[in-house]
Order: sequence, then structure tokens, then C-alpha cells
Amino acid sequence: MRLSTLSLLAALALASACKGDPAQARVEDKPPTGPARPDPGRISPSDEQARFDRERHPELIVKALGLTPGAIVADVGAGTGLLTIHLARAVAPGGRVVATDVDGAVLDMLESRLAPEHLVDVVERRVVSADLPGLEAGRYDAILLAQVDHYFSDPAAWLRAAAPALKANGRLVIENRTYHREPALAAAAAAGFRLVTESTEVPGEFIATFQVAAPVTPPTKTPDKPAVKPKEAP
Ligand SMILES: C[S@@+](CC[C@H](N)C(=O)[O-])C[C@H]1O[C@@H](n2cnc3c(N)ncnc32)[C@H](O)[C@@H]1O
Repeated sequence: MRLSTLSLLAALALASACKGDPAQARVEDKPPTGPARPDPGRISPSDEQARFDRERHPELIVKALGLTPGAIVADVGAGTGLLTIHLARAVAPGGRVVATDVDGAVLDMLESRLAPEHLVDVVERRVVSADLPGLEAGRYDAILLAQVDHYFSDPAAWLRAAAPALKANGRLVIENRTYHREPALAAAAAAGFRLVTESTEVPGEFIATFQVAAPVTPPTKTPDKPAVKPKEAP
């Protein structure tokens, strides 16, 4: 197979993984003509969500993030929002989901998922550059990286840049395919995160929860000799 063909197939695989269901991501070879007809190969948004939920078990991700109403969470590489809707439900009322992505077009699809449940105002969409988290310092109770960290050109540098965005005791959760686990754990350790818990309940995937390791405080300098009180003049 020629390299250009391989590149095209890889691009199509990425598009289907991130822009929704593979059945929906079929390449249309001809423009539609005549009256619109139902497409038997097209899966409805609710069926797509149901299938995603069966396969990815978002409830386990929400649990790992420790989300409660009022919490602020970053959904990094949110894509079309199949997970974002679960985060929004978990933090409402009073909380906030900041959904980031390098691709503004995928974030545009969030609204149709959120509107039926009146959760549009819970989610802020944010287009970011590939190497920077784009998250404010000290604002987040949790940061989620779901099936995205393997796209970072330097995962440890990205995580180092993201760490200050977490509140004290905030959580970083990385969810991905098992074959991305070793590099993910290595990058997190290199960036100063400590693994707190890990779930492998979903076959072929891992959900790892981290916290920033306690900063190393330099030892306080003790004086070499006890201070001698100068004699008072007679
Ligand atoms: C496989 S999809 C995952 C979508 C969603 N998180 C999920 O688990 O269903 C990866 C998403 O990450 C986005 N992405 C890739 N590199 C990124 C980066 N450096 N920063 C933020 N988003 C990124 C892609 O545009 C895509 O929407």
C-alpha cells in the first residue's frame, strides 16, 4: 500500500474516532440529489450517545474525576462532546465545564447535545493551540484528558504546563486505550504527578487519576552554633 493511501486511511480513522460514530463518518462520494431520503446507514445522535456510553462507561470517568455540583472541570480535547454532556450533568447546578479542542468545528457540535438538557450555559467552549493547555491558574477541581494525550507532541511538557491550573488537591484524569498507558504514566510522573487510583474495568482501556505530588520544600537552615547574646557593658 502506498504511503499516501496509508495517510488517508489514518486521517479517516482519526476523523471517525473524534467526530462521532464511525457509521456517521462515511465519506460521501456523490453530492445528494433529489428529495432528502432517510439514510439507513446513519445512526441517530441518541443512538450514537447510547453506544458511546455502553462502550466507554463515562460514569467511571465522572467518578474518577470526583465531580460534584459546583465543581469546575476542564475537558481537554472534548471533540463533539460525547463525554462533555456527562461532565456537565455532574457539575450542574453551579459548576462549569471548560471544553477545549484544537478544532473549533468539533466544538460547534456541542450545543446540540447540551441544549435538550438545558446545559448549554454550563459549558464554555475554548479553541486552544496544540502545545498549550489554555487553562487559568488555580481554577480547576479536575482536568480530564480522554483519548487525547497521545496527540501531544511533548506530553510531559503539556502536563507540566497544565499542573498550575489545578486547585490544591485537584485531580488529573487520563483515560485512554491500554496501549497508551505506559507513555501516559511516564509523562505524568515526569511532570510531577503522583498516581492515586487506576481503573481497568473497561476492557482495553485505563482510567488513571493523579494529583500533583507534594512540592519538595527545602530544609530550613539551622544555625551552626547557638546564638551568643553579647555581654552587656557594665
Ligand atoms: C479521539 S478525540 C477524543 C474526543 C473525546 N475526548 C472523547 O474521549 O470522546 C481527540 C480530540 O482531541 C483533539 N485534540 C488533538 N490534539 C489536541 C491538543 N493538543 N489539545 C486539545 N485538543 C486536541 C482533537 O481535535 C479531537 O477532537
